[in-house]
Amino acid sequence: MRILGIESSCDETAASVVEDGSRILSNVISSQIEIHSRYGGVVPEVASRQHMLSIVPVIQQALSDAKVGFKDIDAIAVTKGPGLAGSLLVGVNTAKAIALAQNLPLIGVNHMEGHIYANWLTGQKIEFPVICLIVSGGHSDLILMRGHGQYELLGRTRDDAAGEAFDKAARILGLGYPGGPLIQKAAESGKPILQLPHSWIKGTNDFSFSGIKTALLRMAEYGKIAMDENAPAGLPSKNDAAASFQKVVVDVLVTKCIALALELGVKQIMVAGGVAANKALRAGLLEKSPLPVIIPPFILCTDNAAMIAACAYYRYQNGQKDGWEMDALPALRLA
Ligand code: KG4
Ligand code: ZN
Repeated sequence: MRILGIESSCDETAASVVEDGSRILSNVISSQIEIHSRYGGVVPEVASRQHMLSIVPVIQQALSDAKVGFKDIDAIAVTKGPGLAGSLLVGVNTAKAIALAQNLPLIGVNHMEGHIYANWLTGQKIEFPVICLIVSGGHSDLILMRGHGQYELLGRTRDDAAGEAFDKAARILGLGYPGGPLIQKAAESGKPILQLPHSWIKGTNDFSFSGIKTALLRMAEYGKIAMDENAPAGLPSKNDAAASFQKVVVDVLVTKCIALALELGVKQIMVAGGVAANKALRAGLLEKSPLPVIIPPFILCTDNAAMIAACAYYRYQNGQKDGWEMDALPALRLA
């Protein structure tokens, strides 16, 4: 079964053809990062207009890369939420139009569930029950999955999401947007010598990252970090600050995720979402977990449509087919 997946929930317009929920025939991603970076973050109205311009060429490219036409496609999958309302609407309405015109089933997918299903594109065998650490721009969740489509939310962030924290830390250090990859790059030339607080929120599986961010902000404000070339000699550099920040966030994510997985006696750990592209997080989990850890390749961690098509395959097997009344749901939840 070949599914054409469409993703437009934030600042990536993406389309992909996936066979049987596991084999990627094409994976086209048109990023708007350059357009938004001058504003230091995603501007929703600009994003939806850009999706309008990109969506048809991106879909055409995905079909052409996969060497298929609409006649070879068996269903249309699209992200219906969560995300930016105007951006989601572009994908949802494009998917509806194609499904109607080509007489194909329409399958709406939760973006976060899509991130989880990127793990099914790795070719690795996944055994339930499994703990999934979802770390993206809007989420830091620990989810227990006992089977396809079954989600139990066991931990979440109480304030900033992990990706959001990376983005804010990068802004504090004047590194640019999006922050995650820039903090990672700066950290590679720094040493984690800054004393930043770990917020463990002991006795729960929840996370909190806003205190770490505020501590970094105060250190920058009080002249404890060399923010420019006029700073006194001997201060920790911005690269040191980035390394320290990344270390604390990764420490908390790795420790709490592994502790929960061991407590529940699950078989595996899966990681999903844009922050799963972080090399220190990947290395930390692989090094410290006594359980097998599955992490999608970098390109499938950040937003893409292959994960949407993969997820839709399992949803369709379970009987999901959406009607024309399906709408964009900006605040859609997984569990
Ligand atoms: O999953 P995603 O692409 O979009 C959402 O659904 O939110 O995640 C985007 C987030 C951003 O906050 C970005 O800074 C972060 O993922 N990110 C990273 C890395 N690559 C992307 N964070 C840390 N290290 C990275 N290498
Ligand atoms: Zn995402």
